[in-house]
Parts: sequence; structure tokens; C-alpha cells
Amino acid sequence: MSSSPSDPKQPADVAGMSRGLVNYGDAGFSLFLRKAFIKGAGYTDTALDRPVIGITDTGSGYNPCHGNMPQLVEAVQRGVMLAGGLPVKFPTISIGESFAQPTSMYLRNLMSMDTEEMLRAQPMDAVVLIGGCDKTVPAQLMGAASAGLPAIQLITGSMLTGSHRGETVGACTDCRRFWGKYRADEIDATEIADVNNQLVASVGTCSVMGTASTMACIAEALGMTVPGGAAPPAVTSARMRVAEETGTVAVQIAKSRLTIDRILTAKAFENAMRVLLAIGGSTNGIVHLTAIAGRMGFEIDLKALDRLGRETPVLVDLKPSGQHYMEHFHAAGGMTTLLRELGPLLHLDALTVTGRTLGEELERAPPPFRQHVIRPRGNPIYPQGGIAVLEGNLAPGGAIIKQSAADPKLMEHEGRAVVFEGLADLAARIDSDDLDVNADDILVLKNIGPKGAPGMPEAGYIPLPRKLARQGVKDMVRISDGRMSGTAFGTIVLHVTPESAIGGPLGYVRNGDRIRLSVSKREISLLVPAEELARRAKESPVTVPTAERGYRKLFLDTVTQADQGVDFDFLRPPQAQERVPKA
Ligand code: FES
Repeated sequence: MSSSPSDPKQPADVAGMSRGLVNYGDAGFSLFLRKAFIKGAGYTDTALDRPVIGITDTGSGYNPCHGNMPQLVEAVQRGVMLAGGLPVKFPTISIGESFAQPTSMYLRNLMSMDTEEMLRAQPMDAVVLIGGCDKTVPAQLMGAASAGLPAIQLITGSMLTGSHRGETVGACTDCRRFWGKYRADEIDATEIADVNNQLVASVGTCSVMGTASTMACIAEALGMTVPGGAAPPAVTSARMRVAEETGTVAVQIAKSRLTIDRILTAKAFENAMRVLLAIGGSTNGIVHLTAIAGRMGFEIDLKALDRLGRETPVLVDLKPSGQHYMEHFHAAGGMTTLLRELGPLLHLDALTVTGRTLGEELERAPPPFRQHVIRPRGNPIYPQGGIAVLEGNLAPGGAIIKQSAADPKLMEHEGRAVVFEGLADLAARIDSDDLDVNADDILVLKNIGPKGAPGMPEAGYIPLPRKLARQGVKDMVRISDGRMSGTAFGTIVLHVTPESAIGGPLGYVRNGDRIRLSVSKREISLLVPAEELARRAKESPVTVPTAERGYRKLFLDTVTQADQGVDFDFLRPPQAQERVPKA
């Protein structure tokens, strides 16, 4: 392959500020002009001769999960300078989960494109990606995977827990639990207001094993962070030391040209899937991992992932599958403890950003100690992986359920469908006293898939009808083509593929149909004859959503289904290399 100035694999003598010169037809002039401008900011030639380390600054007033960004950037810069590099921070867009409508997922691919193109456009020998809130780490890894530079991930870190009337609370499993109590009239307006002040005790990402914590663990399992990079909370000195070390390692990977394709290998993705299953991780982790792997030309084999799950127990006792919070996971040794426990199931020869393998890093790590948050494999929280993959005529392309956070009594269940055609229909009727619904029914929500809503919002955690909540009902089987927050819990079937908005069978479910869920058989079936479904499809053909212009048009025209990571089709390489995991 020929080299060009924007090629990350260009010759080593094209480095630092000489990379990716603006094309005026005279390379010497381009460099002369660039240096003249940056010297306007006070840089000397000595500084400009160093390896350049880009640092993505994703701080935003709309993203309190990144509220420690100034301190993190400062610590990364210190690490870069100590190792002889030149740190240059630059902004990309930032996505705060509860501040981005219609849903943060709608913007993940946009952030990945922003990240990829700014990595390509600007001169840097390596990049430090700083992210934390749910969609930011996946977006950064997707963008960096496509850009191909040496890259290292820094996680912002989790928030601290709070205390409500003597009980430890944290976002956002407890947000849902207390809101459920309020809906059921178990607590009053004064108490719910009090809880609201306690759920988020500091800046940082959600304090349970939600999507942000899941992606932090996945990033470390992939080998993309320094050892121990996933768990330290946002406001701790440990987090700042991780940031400094990240800056130092960034200079090393810049000098050694350790490009991201040597880290994000098939073995790394298989390790990440094991970790996703063993932490009882967010169901969103599958979608994001699929998208990141897709950028590297790997296709996730959902059936093989399910086989991995049958032999990978949940070991981490964190909410929503267990009891504790991220600060406790950190105190228990974090990913080092977990990876040691999973050791025989992992590819310990997978390379990490330090230039050493995962196994070599575990040998260098501090010795194990007694703790009660990360269980041994002989005494798991849940005997199988947290996520099971379902199939059946309702989901020909697959669906998933977080079995570790579901009600065991509902995992083998047949019931009558109570159907909502979309989010507006749900909002209009779910709390109506006239709603014809019983605790044994199955709630079905359509049109919240990648194209349907659009953006596949986290509305799959369908609220229990108020009249049932008041009767003390705590869980029901719920089915949709959307996602749910990693902090949510319940017997909830998600990611039904293909989605209803493009003509998937879910779109033809009607009130009163019988549906069977069998997690043990990995089955989700609509008990309606195929001829009847074909008749309904002919009677009510779908109109696939479109838009006239802008990002919405790009999104609706090119977004893929959940089994392809909800990435844009044109951002994936034309040909997948291989399927992972190989189990
Ligand atoms: Fe940002 Fe949960 S809202 S991590």
C-alpha cells in the first residue's frame, strides 16, 4: 500500500507536526505555515520536534459524567511531558446520556465519525481517547479503529455513591427502583425529591454495572487501557494516576508505532465477550462490541456468543445483577481480580497497549487478596453469563435477554400479548385504569428499533402498568425491538431483529396473541401460524421511515440492525474478515 501524508502507517520519518500536511502543492511551505501558526500559541521548535500526542477533550456542560475532564486532561498532559512527548488537546462532540434526544444512541455514530475524521485530519503520532458516559467510549473506539492510529483509551471513572436515609444509593438502578416505588404510591413526593439529591454524589459515570461501567471493563479487556484503567472512581487520586500513566504509555505507542489493529484482534474481542458475560454487563455492550468489531472487519456470531455464555458465570456482584457499586469493584482489585479469576477462559497472549500481553500484565500486577465483590468461578452470582441470545419466529435475526437481572419465575413463561404500537401509544395508555392487562400478560412495544424511533432508544424497560404496580406486581415479561439501560432490571427481551419498522414479525403481533418465552431453550416464539402472519403483513404493509435531509436522513438511510451493531453500513469495511468468537 502506498503511503500518503494522512496514512497512519506512513514512514517513521514522517512524524509529529510533519504528519498529514495541508496540501498546497508544496510540502515544505505547508510545514513552514503550520509551525508559524502554532508558534503563535508560544511553542518552541524544541517542543514541536517531539512526538505529538492528541488528547480528545470531551468535556461538556451537558455531560456531568465527564465533569472531571479538566483534571484528567492535565494529568494526561503531565504523563505525556514526562515521557518526552508534546500533548495537544482538541475537542470532539460529547454525549451525555440523559441530555441527548431522541436518544444518545442516535448520536453515537456521529461522534465516531467526528473522532475518526479529527484523528485523520490533525497531526498526531498517537491519541488518548477520553470517554466515559455510555456512548462515548464505543464511539471513540469505533472511530479510532477506523482511523488506524496508535490509540489508548482513558475512562473518566464512576461517580461516588450517595446515602438516602441510611441506605447506599447510586445511579441508576436505584433511580428506577425508587421511581417504581413512587409510581406504586409506596413513597411520597417528599421522599422521591430527597432521593433525587442523593443518587449522583459526584461527577463521573453511573456507579453500577451499567453501560458505562461495562464499556470501561470491555475497554480494559480489549487491551485498550493501561492495566487497572477501568475501575477507579472519577474523583480519586487513583483515577488521576491512571490518567498520568495513560499519557506516558501514549508516547510509548507513538514511538513504537503500536497501531490499534495489533490490539483489536479476534482474541481481544473474544476476551471482551467473556468479560461482558462475567460482569453481568449491560445488554448495550453487545451492540457496541459488535460495532467496534465490525470496524475491524469482524462479525459477532451471536450463537457462538451464547455458547460462551453457557460456560462463563457472572462473577461480579454489582447492581443490577448483584449488590455492590463500582467503588467496591475498584476496592476489590477491579479488572485485575476478575481477569485472574477468568484466566483459563481468556486468551492471555492478546497484546495490550503497554506492549505486553494480558497474561504478562497479570503476572506484574499486585498479589490477590481476600474480598467479597468478585466471586471465584466455583461460587458465582449466576451460573451462566449475564446475557442469553434468543431465537424464534418472533426474532429471526435474534434477540437478547439479561437473564442475570430477570425474575427466575418468568424465564419460562407463556402469556397473552398486550401491544403498544409505539412510544406515544405507550405513554397514552400504560397508566390507564381501562387498560386490559393482567400480571401474566406479556407487554409488547413496537417501533423502538434502530429506524423505528429512530436510534433504538432505551425504552425497552417498559414501565409496569400503574394499576398492576399498585397491586404489588414487580416484574412482567416485556418485549421490544429497542434497548434498555444497563442499569435496568427485569424479564425484558430486547433487540428483537429485524425490527418492526422494517417489517419484522414483531410488527404483526396483535393484542391477545400468545407468546412463549423459554430462556432455557433460548426461544422467543409468537404462537400464530405463519399463514396468518403473512396475511397480516399483506393487509398492513410497513412504510420504512425516511427523512428529507440532514443527519436524520443519513441515519435512516444507512443504519444497520442490532445484529450489526447499529452502525452505519458505509462505515464498516466492505468485507468481514472472520466471525468471532470462534467457540
Ligand atoms: Fe453517563 Fe450513566 S448517565 S454514565
